[in-house]
Amino acid sequence: MSSSWPHLSAACHGCERCELATTRHNVVVGRGNPQASVLLIGEAPGQQEDEQGEPFVGRAGQLLEKLLGEAGLDSRRDLYIANVIKCRPPQNRKPTRTEIERCLPWLHQQLELLDPPLVVLAGATALQAVLGIKGGISKLRGQWIEQQGRAYLPVFHPSYLLRFGSRAPGAPQELTLADMQDVRRRLDRKDWPQ
Ligand code: URA
Repeated sequence: MSSSWPHLSAACHGCERCELATTRHNVVVGRGNPQASVLLIGEAPGQQEDEQGEPFVGRAGQLLEKLLGEAGLDSRRDLYIANVIKCRPPQNRKPTRTEIERCLPWLHQQLELLDPPLVVLAGATALQAVLGIKGGISKLRGQWIEQQGRAYLPVFHPSYLLRFGSRAPGAPQELTLADMQDVRRRLDRKDWPQ
């Protein structure tokens, strides 16, 4: 168990628990404020993230930043951002069950170090890996799930949002903006679960 962020980062960078270690260029541990009250969890690094060593820095990340900004959230101040999987799956395929199982202990250590009251689960992979809930995001997005002292909010994955440009009421981007505004509200009120 890593007792500090530098230990955790060093351990992740040396990780060879799965095959992705042989194809990655960088281990993508996380970015943002390691003292934030909100942890946002995505799926896995894509090409840009693999090249730059930071999560959500490609097209999906730019859209995420835009929506966070519109909701009054600053990713460097208000959030820590990580993924279920720390290394890029080749061709951006979905991570396998084995890869998720081998990688999850890193995310659990991040949860332990950060101890965030609020956790945003971006996409079905994060929802299933963290809470064990299968079946996709559409039914659950926007609904807080309180468990063991944390409040989890499933939201659409930013890559999914890229496929729908519309900002009309009820469109995925607009719903996600509302979800991020809800995070901002809980943060402002320090509305933590009991
Ligand atoms: N998609 C993710 O889930 N995570 C990233 O870091 C980038 C794209």
